[in-house]
Amino acid sequence: MELNRKIAEMELKRAGELNPGKWTDHSRFVAFACKNIAAQCSDLSAEKAYCFGLLHDIGRHAGVTSEKHLIDGYRFCIQRGWKKAAQICISHAFMIQDIKTSIGTFDVSEDDYSFMKSFLENSVYDDYDRLVQLCDALALPTGFCLLEKRFVDVTIRYGIHPATVDQWKKILEIKEQFERKINGSIYELLPGVIENSFR
Ligand SMILES: [Fe+2]
Repeated sequence: MELNRKIAEMELKRAGELNPGKWTDHSRFVAFACKNIAAQCSDLSAEKAYCFGLLHDIGRHAGVTSEKHLIDGYRFCIQRGWKKAAQICISHAFMIQDIKTSIGTFDVSEDDYSFMKSFLENSVYDDYDRLVQLCDALALPTGFCLLEKRFVDVTIRYGIHPATVDQWKKILEIKEQFERKINGSIYELLPGVIENSFR
């Protein structure tokens, strides 16, 4: 079954019925940002980017979990033959390709942990991985937000991790890469970002 916009929307809807929560609205905003930014990049497909954004947290269909949602999402997509979407289900949480940079809990088996560790070490990221990483950091369940505001919000909730500053730097670097590609500010492509960031 080829991944397309309709199927991705249907799968997210179904997953939201299995495990209702704010994560589905967050996923929709991530997808919207991915689509808008990709549409300005001549070498990216807006439809693909939209699907990857919608599905990045699809592992949450399996219930309220921490890093287990990454591997659940990977399996969900692999079973359907969606290899790139599967990679993004894991890669979106690791702008730095090192499992130790995670701020979450590894509520997974030892085998799953080892799998994720080597998967990360051996993955080659492309602009779709980076785009979802960026948009994940830009999208709240209520809309788009200034990256720096989101950084502080997450750090207040989870505390400071040894990798925190490197992750911030990496996300800002990705933002700059995309801004060079689109020759403008990403925020211009995110409706409501001003209202959402400053209220
Ligand atoms: Fe997310």
